[in-house]
Amino acid sequence: MPIWSPEQYLTFAEWRTRPSRDLAQRVEVAQPQRIVDLGCGPGNSLEVCAECWPQASLLGLDSSAAMIKTAQTAYPHREWRVADISDWVQQSDGERFDIIFSSAALQWLDNHEALFPRLLDHLTPGGALAVQMPAYEAVPNRVMRELAQSNQWRRWFPEGRAKEWRSHELEFYYEALAPHASRLDLWATDYLQIMPDLGAIVEWYRGTGLRPYLEAITEESDRKRFLAEYAERLQPFYPESAVGGVLFPFRRLFIIAYLG
Ligand SMILES: C[S@@+](CC[C@H](N)C(=O)[O-])C[C@H]1O[C@@H](n2cnc3c(N)ncnc32)[C@H](O)[C@@H]1O
Repeated sequence: MPIWSPEQYLTFAEWRTRPSRDLAQRVEVAQPQRIVDLGCGPGNSLEVCAECWPQASLLGLDSSAAMIKTAQTAYPHREWRVADISDWVQQSDGERFDIIFSSAALQWLDNHEALFPRLLDHLTPGGALAVQMPAYEAVPNRVMRELAQSNQWRRWFPEGRAKEWRSHELEFYYEALAPHASRLDLWATDYLQIMPDLGAIVEWYRGTGLRPYLEAITEESDRKRFLAEYAERLQPFYPESAVGGVLFPFRRLFIIAYLG
């Protein structure tokens, strides 16, 4: 589990929060009373829920104390909890929610085949599980994996990999959830994120996917070299546009499962 930095994560607050808005506006639950945001981070996605469903009482849950502290400072009137989603989902006698919302978090948990149906157990009848995750197959993810597998970096990655996140194709979630849900809404969106330069793309991943890799390298000089090599390998995929800026396509998966 990587250590999260709320400040670094919020560098791209607008691009990181927009998928929560796109997800929330498609959720069809009339007058939800109780909503939980799993992996709420610094509170940005929970605030989207608050704007969408002002009548609901909201709980933000995250395993990072630093994230919850930032969320609490920004939104002191809301309810926040430091907890691991995998522990939370095991509680069979826990509270039920009208909406279980989760944006850019569940990819950090394993065994989605069991996890997703189990999340439905925490819904009230008529409720919805609404999830957004990044797509797994993207050039920057592949490049960090290739670096960790290379002989040059074997010292820091003896198993040829870091603990990393994982999402699957939408068909996988259809098969996992269809036997349990009354209705499913599944889609993907390619966001064409406009960045000032390549360095901003590296910075984006320093806030998320690169964290387990950089944490595995405990020598500062090697960490810098890893980042420099990462940027060099990304360069051909993200050329500067003739009109300025660098286009950074980013695919996200959306899953809404309703409980009848
Ligand atoms: C990329 S941030 C997403 C923040 C926010 N939901 C958003 O949409 O921008 C991922 C968050 O998931 C949290 N997280 C990852 N694994 C978790 C787990 N097993 N239990 C609880 N929170 C987890 C991290 O601490 C981090 O704050």
